[in-house]
Amino acid sequence: MNERMNTTVIFDGIRFPGFIHTLESLKAASAFQFQDKDVLLVTFPKSGTTWMQQVLSLIFCEGHLWPIHHLPNWARVPWIEQVSFSQLVHELRSSWPRLFTSHLSAKVLAPALMKSKVKVVYVARNPKDTLVSYYHFHRIAGFMPDPSSFEDFVDEFLEGTGFFGSWFDHVKGWLGLQKDLNLLFVTYEELHQEPRRTIQKLSEFLERPLRPEEEDVILQHCSFSFMSQSNMVNYSLLSNEIMDQRKGKFLRKGHLPLLYQVLWGTGGNTLLLN
Ligand code: A3P
Repeated sequence: MNERMNTTVIFDGIRFPGFIHTLESLKAASAFQFQDKDVLLVTFPKSGTTWMQQVLSLIFCEGHLWPIHHLPNWARVPWIEQVSFSQLVHELRSSWPRLFTSHLSAKVLAPALMKSKVKVVYVARNPKDTLVSYYHFHRIAGFMPDPSSFEDFVDEFLEGTGFFGSWFDHVKGWLGLQKDLNLLFVTYEELHQEPRRTIQKLSEFLERPLRPEEEDVILQHCSFSFMSQSNMVNYSLLSNEIMDQRKGKFLRKGHLPLLYQVLWGTGGNTLLLN
């Protein structure tokens, strides 16, 4: 077993899995030099990160689908805070703007982001589905601790003491930066309910106009059915030690409970702030 598999790194009071983070990689991310043309996707884990990585790749690939079929999501839109980033950043496609991902808090990343006009796409998912998805993820990911019980996991989530900190602080922190940054707030639920409209909203924000045929190609390749079969986004390239999908799939469900379609949907922003 990899010796870092069960380790934890604490950075700015928040716990991170030591298998993919070190103090150095986290510090480097907080001081990363963004360029104006960069695009940064930010999420709390389990909020639809992989889905939006796929959508962003598709928006910028201009119909050339080779990367969609041959490059894993973590190489196309790497996490700036992970250990692998120092290598992956040099392998990014030069024809696209640099696309990055992060789970870091607004407090940690704001100083670096304010030095540039980088476009930030923040994806939020309702807390109940995020929590359930996160619980199942802990069961399959070898680098996350096995939850003792669902009840304990709920307590930890509500207290914000688990890996990556508090969902509530994360979402509020990033929403609070809306006026200071070039930031688009998108919900998992709106992408689910109105995928074409959400992709059009993204295309406008990213200044990458799309023809209706291009939108069709994007919609097809970011569908749950396509993504769950694609090795490049379903994490099947990882060993069972890292992610044991015999216990449950990474792309687990792909549907939305009605309650949250009504309560959260595109009104999530307003709900949270009030
Ligand atoms: P579930 O565990 O509820 O199924 P992340 O990438 O941030 O870890 O989020 C993973 C969650 O996003 C999983 O939720 C996964 O199924 C969901 N997801 C990924 N791609 C999706 C898609 N194309 N459509 C709907 N949900 C998707």
